[in-house]
Amino acid sequence: MDLAAISNDIEKIVVSEEQIQNRLKEMAAQVLKDYEGRDLILVGVLKGAIMAMADFSRHLQRHIDMDWMAVSSYGSGTKSSGVVRILKDLDRDITGRNVLIIEDIVDSGLTLSWLKTNLESRGVGSVEILSILRKPDAAKVEVDVKYVGFDIPKDFVIGYGLDFDEKYRNLPFIAVLAKHMYE
Ligand code: IMP
Ligand code: MG
Repeated sequence: MDLAAISNDIEKIVVSEEQIQNRLKEMAAQVLKDYEGRDLILVGVLKGAIMAMADFSRHLQRHIDMDWMAVSSYGSGTKSSGVVRILKDLDRDITGRNVLIIEDIVDSGLTLSWLKTNLESRGVGSVEILSILRKPDAAKVEVDVKYVGFDIPKDFVIGYGLDFDEKYRNLPFIAVLAKHMYE
C-alpha cells in the first residue's frame, strides 16, 4: 500500500514489516523445536490472524494442519466483555491433538482465555497460544501466552491483520491509529 495514502491516518509505526518477519522466523524455530516429533494443528482466529497464519506457517518446514475459528466478543465499542459467541467453529474434531492458537493481539485477554478453555474442554492433547502482539492489560487476566511477538503500549493499533472498522488489515506493518480518526 502507498504509505502516502494513509500517512494522515497513522500516528507512528510501532512494529515494522522487517521486525514482524524476523520475529516470526524466531518463533517458528522455537515452535519447531517444542513440537518436534509431535502432531500440530494451527488454529487461526478470524479475521485478525490471517496475516500471522500465512507468514508464520510458511516458516514451519514440517507437516501441520490448519483450521480457523471466528468468535465475537460482546461488549461496548472497543472494550471486550469476556462473553464470547462462536461464529464459526473448527471444521474438524481435535480430540487428542496438539493445538496452537494463532492470534493477532492479546488486549484484555478475555477472548483468548475463553477460547483456550473452550478448546481444552474438547479432549485435546494440549493447547498453547501464539500472539503477534500483547498489550500491558493482558497481564490482568490469567491467560498464558506461550509465544509473544511483541509487547506494545496500550494505544489502538492497526495493520498486519488488525483493523479499524474493517480497514487497514492489509498493511504489512503495525501502526498506532491517529487519535483524530476516532475521537
Ligand atoms: P481481548 O479479549 O480484549 O483480548 O480482545 C482481543 C481482540 O480485540 C483482538 O483479537 C482484536 O480483534 C481486538 N483488539 C484489541 N486491541 C486492538 C487494537 O489495538 N487494534 C485492533 N483490534 C484490537
Ligand atoms: Mg477486530
